[in-house]
Amino acid sequence: MQHSEWEIVQPSASPVFEALRAFGYTPETSIADLVDNSIAARAKNVYIAFVWNDGDAYIVIKDDGVGMSEKSLVDAMRLGSQSPAVERQKGDLGRFGLGLKTASIAQAREFSVVTTNAANRSPVVRRWDLDEIQQSGEWRLRSSLPNQAVDDIAFAETGTAVVWTKCDRLIGDPTTGSRMTKAQFLRVADSVSNHLGMTFHRFLGAPRRLRISVNGSDVRPWDPFLSDNASTYSPGTEALPMQGQAIKVTPYVLPHKSKLDIDEHKRAGGIQGWNAHQGFYVYREDRLLVSGSWLGVGGMKEEHSKLARIALDVPIALDHMWQVDVRKSQIRPPASIVRDLERIGRTTKTKAQEVYRFRGKIAAARSSQAFVFAWLQHKDRDMNISYRINRDNPVVRQVLDASPEYKVQIEHLLRFVEETVPMTQIAVHLASSLESSQQPFDEDTRGLRELLEFSYSRMLTSGASSEQVLDVLASTEPFSLHPGIVAAFKESVNS
Ligand SMILES: Nc1ncnc2c1ncn2[C@@H]1O[C@H](COP(=O)(O)OP(=O)(O)O)[C@@H](O)[C@H]1O
Ligand SMILES: [Mg+2]
Repeated sequence: MQHSEWEIVQPSASPVFEALRAFGYTPETSIADLVDNSIAARAKNVYIAFVWNDGDAYIVIKDDGVGMSEKSLVDAMRLGSQSPAVERQKGDLGRFGLGLKTASIAQAREFSVVTTNAANRSPVVRRWDLDEIQQSGEWRLRSSLPNQAVDDIAFAETGTAVVWTKCDRLIGDPTTGSRMTKAQFLRVADSVSNHLGMTFHRFLGAPRRLRISVNGSDVRPWDPFLSDNASTYSPGTEALPMQGQAIKVTPYVLPHKSKLDIDEHKRAGGIQGWNAHQGFYVYREDRLLVSGSWLGVGGMKEEHSKLARIALDVPIALDHMWQVDVRKSQIRPPASIVRDLERIGRTTKTKAQEVYRFRGKIAAARSSQAFVFAWLQHKDRDMNISYRINRDNPVVRQVLDASPEYKVQIEHLLRFVEETVPMTQIAVHLASSLESSQQPFDEDTRGLRELLEFSYSRMLTSGASSEQVLDVLASTEPFSLHPGIVAAFKESVNS
């Protein structure tokens, strides 16, 4: 239609879709976005299938939610199906009316939605195929299933299934020749499962509101705060008022490593490890948007503050103030609460640092002994630095004294170790690894205990009391790093 004041300029279908593919969605974030839709549709179960199908892989994300009418389905396939300005209902995790489309085409050139609601008797289908849009140059929405046969799309009652076919982005492009192997494809499925366990942990944990399975295995919730652990510290929830709403802030300081067993500690570290997962955790309607960030208000991520994790519950009505991006992965706090977040961040970090250093402290405080290091730094006249094993460390001294006939040989061995410490390799390793917190004997507590028993029994022969010897050992490296083990040993000695 012509008008003198304006003309209607339709976007070209194919370039719009192609551009939307580059939003930066990963398979993990794409699928999380589809799960948001399932939750908004009141699903109790979400079934995810990664089907390798001899390399013609496809993925199904199916729920048992309320489903859609044919008319709503067509609207749902439209880019921008509901304006973000329309205030979302409580429980609605959507945002821009783009998620379904952008998340899907970021991974696949073709995707279909099959849905059935209480009014439909049989499922209805709509499908976008980028190849067809490219050839025709039109927004042609198909109403048939893909040519490729797909399983796992039957419903017991109501529900919706999203099917990704022609998964070029996900598994690689046949035209360039670089394609995923089946093993890699299944590793993506594992990674998706971990990501969902984190993102939706409040739904998956008790009381459970949602079950998600990936290739038949239930997704396990990952609670960032170990809130079931008696050693987790939390001062409680603070409400920051904002425009008649409240932003809820709940700081947590996680337990010291010595309170967790090795597996617990590893799992609590999270997908990206302890250092990366410190800071604020931003939730919108219980859905995790940000899994550990100081949000530009809490300073840097530091080894010593890694036990600090703070839950922030943001009401949907304040979405516009938080600058949530389409992928829901970026968020910036509104200026009016920056001060409060800084304050809470600082307090929590300080507390976390105390807990992090606690072990060294109790050992030092209880002991009348000075702290005895395992290694000493040595500087020569030209200021060259080297490291020497501390001959005055009781552990070392006991070994030397225990076998006078081998004293010279042991001394040679110590010199050999000192001279061949692979300093450069260690420096490179530390610089490139985030997780540099490995403590001596962390993985070998039995070896530590044996060393403790040996040193203890040797030192008793000098005539010192059991009490005195234990006191010395408690402040001696490496035992000072493991006060729990020293305490247990003390108990076994005294009983
Ligand atoms: N699994 C589903 N079950 C029922 N309805 C859905 C489902 N997925 C999407 N929809 C409908 O499609 C619409 C568009 O979804 P989407 O593109 O993700 O945008 P948004 O979630 O921001 O609204 C949703 O608002 C919803 O009405
Ligand atoms: Mg959505």
